[in-house]
Amino acid sequence: MQLTHKVVWITGATSGIGEAMFKACCDEKARLIISGRNADKLRLLQTEARTKGLECAVFPFELTDPEGIAKSCQEVLRQFDRIDVLVHNGGVSQRALATEAPIALDRHIMETNFFGAVAITKAILPRMVAQGGGKLVVISSIVGKFGFPLRSAYAASKHALQGFFDSLRAEMVRENVSVLMVCPGKIATNISKNALTKDGTAYNISDKGHINGMTADRCAQIIVKAIRKEKKEIFVGGKEVLMVYIKRFIPGLFFKIVSKVNPT
Ligand SMILES: NC(=O)c1ccc[n+]([C@@H]2O[C@H](COP(=O)([O-])OP(=O)(O)OC[C@H]3O[C@@H](n4cnc5c(N)ncnc54)[C@H](OP(=O)(O)O)[C@@H]3O)[C@@H](O)[C@H]2O)c1
Repeated sequence: MQLTHKVVWITGATSGIGEAMFKACCDEKARLIISGRNADKLRLLQTEARTKGLECAVFPFELTDPEGIAKSCQEVLRQFDRIDVLVHNGGVSQRALATEAPIALDRHIMETNFFGAVAITKAILPRMVAQGGGKLVVISSIVGKFGFPLRSAYAASKHALQGFFDSLRAEMVRENVSVLMVCPGKIATNISKNALTKDGTAYNISDKGHINGMTADRCAQIIVKAIRKEKKEIFVGGKEVLMVYIKRFIPGLFFKIVSKVNPT
């Protein structure tokens, strides 16, 4: 699939991988819809796109707010005759032990990372089917494939995305709606700074692993290439991606490593 003149909706476009996807899609001359909570930042990006002569609509909403999501989806469907690509990127990480995190934090992370994406998908899918097909790009994580200390609810939310969208992919083959699961490792964004601690406040520290991780721009280039090549699942990052294969093929070694690892 080529992105030129395609309608691409990106959630979590205000920062990190989402912002890099916005830029990559501008380079591809896509028609853009961008979302996140930070309306001011979204408008700055809109101006940037319009300066380049590109169409860009802004829909700010909170992923934990089903009514806000429903209203935005209705308005998107009213303004756009089609949605070719929906990039479920908005999300929040965690830096709290499972024993210390209150259940409200687990629910918040699941609402943000999982139910938000599911709600948008259910609202938009009928249009994708009616228009003859489309693509759902889901930014999961390598911790959608294994558990990791301090990230119990985050890893659960990414496993949930994997289960939901792998099932949906199988259901939607005849409708020509495809799913690309993206499993990043460590990408240099504010993900660890914005991660939630046990009291619900931001961790506010950039983990060393993320500072030294792959750039968000490189990650976005790889995602765009995978969209073009109709890939179903990709792993993006550095050596940390090997953990997926260690878990799959040498699980004993994986469990030893993950119990001793420095999780920040
Ligand atoms: N960076 C990594 O190493 C890494 C690794 C694996 C997976 N990922 C995944 O990649 C995606 C993007 O993360 P990132 O690394 O780019 O982190 P980031 O810089 O913190 O960006 C997160 C984005 O999600 C949006 N967001 C967060 N909470 C939201 C909420 N409640 N409602 C609406 N939007 C919300 C933020 O926008 P607002 O603040 O404007 O709401 C922001 O645009 C996430 O799904 C993350 O889990 C990242």
